[in-house]
Amino acid sequence: FNVPVPANEPVKEYRPGSPEREAVKQAIADFRSQKTDIPMYIGGQEVRTSRKLRVAPPHDHQHTLGYFYEGDAKHVHQAIEAALTAKTDWANLPWEQRAAIFLRAAELIAGPYRARINAATMLGQSKNVYQAEIDSACELIDFLRFNVFYAEEIYRQQPNSSPGVWNRLDYRPLEGFVFALTPFNFTAIAGNLPTSAALMGNTVVWKPAYTQVLSAKVIMEVLQEAGLPAGVINLIYVDGPIAGEVVFNHPDFAGIHFTGSTSVFQQIWKTIGENIHKYKSYPRIVGETGGKDFVLVHESADVDEVATGLVRGAFEYQGQKCSAASRAYIPSNLWPAIEARVGQFLSELKMGSTEDFTNFINAVIDERSFKKITAYIEEAKKNSEVTVISGGSYDSSKGYFVEPTILKVNNPQYRTMCEEIFGPVLSVYVYEPEEFAEVVKVVDTTSPYALTGCIFAKDRYVIDFVTRALQNAAGNFYINDKPTGAVVGQQPFGGARASGTNDKAGAALNLLRWVSARTIKETF
Ligand code: NAD
Ligand code: ALA
Repeated sequence: FNVPVPANEPVKEYRPGSPEREAVKQAIADFRSQKTDIPMYIGGQEVRTSRKLRVAPPHDHQHTLGYFYEGDAKHVHQAIEAALTAKTDWANLPWEQRAAIFLRAAELIAGPYRARINAATMLGQSKNVYQAEIDSACELIDFLRFNVFYAEEIYRQQPNSSPGVWNRLDYRPLEGFVFALTPFNFTAIAGNLPTSAALMGNTVVWKPAYTQVLSAKVIMEVLQEAGLPAGVINLIYVDGPIAGEVVFNHPDFAGIHFTGSTSVFQQIWKTIGENIHKYKSYPRIVGETGGKDFVLVHESADVDEVATGLVRGAFEYQGQKCSAASRAYIPSNLWPAIEARVGQFLSELKMGSTEDFTNFINAVIDERSFKKITAYIEEAKKNSEVTVISGGSYDSSKGYFVEPTILKVNNPQYRTMCEEIFGPVLSVYVYEPEEFAEVVKVVDTTSPYALTGCIFAKDRYVIDFVTRALQNAAGNFYINDKPTGAVVGQQPFGGARASGTNDKAGAALNLLRWVSARTIKETF
């Protein structure tokens, strides 16, 4: 085998006047000036229904960007049939031919589609241009390229043979179809979940979040232009429970590639368990779920590094990253300096539309999310054990804007230290330096999640102690860096405990879940 050796896609800077900035501004203007039609794609056909639902920018919710067409159970059946019909030809295609389609898709996003997919993410999901670039351009390109590289590694792994005997592992796709259920917050994840399973020879029914349909449409445009055959990935817009009812009762259901909240994943797992006798094979269950990601600071830490890590980790993309820093433990002797530095950074950040490129903070995804986040803030304001030390205001008149908010809590078990809020709210517990070992235990036991976390310290004994003590508390653990921003091929991403099955996205570990190997022994 011989595959292109991947390199991470360089992040463009979008400086004023640069060609990439002008291109993305033009793509935004194009989306703004038209009502984009967003059909489902089933068996290579565009499918429209009588239920047209509106798409609006979260930062300007009265503006209509376009309409998508909601399907029902009938469309889920059609998508499954299309996937099953396409299966044999796709599975039998030499894997290099499949890989070539996804490598072509990566080049299309790196080139002609870059501005369009970034603009769709900026408008549809309210990401600023930098957050869109690292997600819908660079990370998605990286997933597509690195998955091919890792697939080759898998296909190359073969057992020993001996004279007169030839043993082979035949890496077949799963028998049946794969269901990809994707979240709103990363265009790259939405693109990766169906394409990684498809790369390994599976055919897929893909249901994205309704708040990500604009960029989902662009992903589908790219895949079609890259030459993806009809029926390999079928994109449907159907209410989650309705889609689940059809999929999880189907005998050919072979696996779920899920990213989303812990509660939805647990419900899905339970349903699959209840239906287990209906399936031809045990389905593969792969889920990346919620987080309550920690920043642990030791008194040997560098104040500037901590302050930068807190602000970027907690507030980039309005805290709507599964990896976002949402609980921090800070020693009292560093707290005044860190508080001052964080306050200075926050005073320099602007909040508003993604279409003004100087805004760092944009809107949260929708009204439901806005209400959930602001309810936490209101409850905290009333609690005598909590001090709002920054932010705390919000306004949904034009867009769903919530100020970056920092809550200082007296009780390290207070609910904002334990529960996933999924918004720009950071809770801080200030401890006495001599309590450090106790605090490490609190970090480990306070929340059911284990997605990301970090330690800021310069003392090597402390770094070593914490790395071992918190070995099960985070699937991605960072030393002297924020807990967000994993790069494909460098920090394989995924969490354990209530954060997921830890089948690292963008790694061979994940791709292995989408094959069912057959051992072949031939004697001569
Ligand atoms: P969500 O759980 O609400 O939705 C995820 C997907 O499941 C969507 O397509 C949704 O429509 C569908 N869905 C919802 N209820 C369903 C049901 N009952 N049956 C079938 N499908 C259903 O998640 P979200 O709000 O889109 O995304 C945010 C969540 O995702 C957060 O909890 C975040 O931590 C998590 N997330 C995790 C990772 C990770 O890698 N661990 C990455 C991104 C997001
Ligand atoms: N991969 C994303 C991050 O690390 C979720 O922030």
